[in-house]
Amino acid sequence: MPYYRVVGEVPRKRHVQFRRPDGGLYAEELMGEEGFSSDSSLLYHRHLPTAIVKAEAVETGTETRLEPNLPLSPRHFRTQELSSAGDLVTGRLLLAGNGDVRLSYATSDRPSELYRNSMGDECVYVQRGRVRFESTYGAIEAGEGDYIVVPTGTIHRWVPEGPVNVLAIEAAGHIRPPKRYLSQYGQFLEHAPYCERDLRAPAEPLLVEGEEVPVLVRTRGGLTRLVYRHHPFDVVGWDGYLYPFAFNIDDFEPIVKKTHAPPPVHQTFEGPGFVVCSFCPRPLDYHPEAIPIPYNHHNVDSDEFMFYVGGDYSARAGSGIEVGSISLHPAGFTHGPQPGAVEAVIDAVARGVTTTSEMAVMVDTFRPLDLGQGALSCEDPGYAWTWAR
Ligand SMILES: [Fe+2]
Repeated sequence: MPYYRVVGEVPRKRHVQFRRPDGGLYAEELMGEEGFSSDSSLLYHRHLPTAIVKAEAVETGTETRLEPNLPLSPRHFRTQELSSAGDLVTGRLLLAGNGDVRLSYATSDRPSELYRNSMGDECVYVQRGRVRFESTYGAIEAGEGDYIVVPTGTIHRWVPEGPVNVLAIEAAGHIRPPKRYLSQYGQFLEHAPYCERDLRAPAEPLLVEGEEVPVLVRTRGGLTRLVYRHHPFDVVGWDGYLYPFAFNIDDFEPIVKKTHAPPPVHQTFEGPGFVVCSFCPRPLDYHPEAIPIPYNHHNVDSDEFMFYVGGDYSARAGSGIEVGSISLHPAGFTHGPQPGAVEAVIDAVARGVTTTSEMAVMVDTFRPLDLGQGALSCEDPGYAWTWAR
């Protein structure tokens, strides 16, 4: 996705003999999207990446059932009340989902086993804690506020340093920066709210020795555990445009207007059937008579899933929303600030307040989101009526 990168040792030409110190050949592996017609990377393994010795079906450990949002209503989920069993992969609690994307929450302090999601890209947002992401491409040290984008099929694992909380966005396709941020050749344009320098990717090979190494593989059919003859983290070098990377929400450069700007200015990534937006601390809208919080709106084609990750939410005062909350404002419902919030922010500006500290990660989906058991188990049942108080 992002731009050309080379890590470790690669031969001068692709698909030529590249030999180990003992004279044997390194084994090529091309990881490519859209059937050789889109971005790819070429990896060089010490051992055959095809050598598996066992395959076994695995029961899905967590509840994957989804229910329609009926009766239709805005929802408030309190992730602060969730504790998951398992690791950052097997311990994911399904909050919401549809045919395009699944949104889950996980908290864990234990390393995950090796994992490959072959259904689509993942974007994992670290709400709290530090975690080392390890993969065939190398490692990325990640922490609070990082989005880690993991391309489809990347074998990886999560190694927390203490307790870590994440929101996992699992796509049924590829997650990329919005096209309008990029030149026709893929470079970030000057108006984009972030650029190549803000992306962190593996810098060196991660060479791990091991035999009979299990990898949990997720496909449309379910979960399988494949046992590899040799450890898949045996790549001495790779190059290309396809690799995992991290982007920290603090590196997002908010775009501010004189009057209130709608969420597309906060867009960070896009995937098939959804977008991801980052709401970051920024100056308030500066027209002398501006109302610097959202107007009531009805996104007739979207469900809006908002994870409040930091700061103060003056527009939501009286709603029960706080850090750790998730609101779901579905199509079919008009939403906006709670009663009194507009007057309160106008008063605050009159007193000299010029900035907002709000921080949130939003996923807008273009098809309705169904509700998972994780969300229903931490729902605040009074939320829907808070505009009518
Ligand atoms: Fe909204």
